Amino acid sequence: MPMKIGKCKIIKFPVISDPRGNLAFIEGKNHIPFDVKRVYYLYDVPSGATRGGHAHKKMEVVIIALSGSFHVKIDDGLKTELIFLNRPHWGLYIPPSVWRELEDFSSNSIAFVLASTFYDEGDYIRQHEVFKKMVHDGTYK
Ligand code: TYD
Repeated sequence: MPMKIGKCKIIKFPVISDPRGNLAFIEGKNHIPFDVKRVYYLYDVPSGATRGGHAHKKMEVVIIALSGSFHVKIDDGLKTELIFLNRPHWGLYIPPSVWRELEDFSSNSIAFVLASTFYDEGDYIRQHEVFKKMVHDGTYK
């Protein structure tokens, strides 16, 4: 059974430091392992709220703590890991078939997400039991 968590990784984007402020940049294929079709972002997340809580059949993402910090719990059905994101020039790559939950948002935090697909509710697995069963049955590649 494939371990998807091993495919999750932190991508560090280039930063141009300057006394006037830092500049980070992201160049399509040079820094992101998929073609970006969509970006979305979470902001004004109330303290104690959890976002995510789903896996995807096809969608890949890179999640960036553009401001503030939060934890991302990743789970491939066999193993879980907790990743702390608090750098605007770091991104967490998550391949398909990995359950994710975003939690412990600091005040004024922004979770900026680069996604490989347009929004498609049919790509979501929103029930953890269904996710576990798909992993167990090998429905997920
Ligand atoms: P969802 O992906 O469940 O949010 P999160 O995982 O960040 O907590 O999406 C919440 C709602 O927003 C859901 O009704 C679908 C809608 N939505 C869109 O319409 N377009 C999008 O690009 C995204 C990410 C969500």
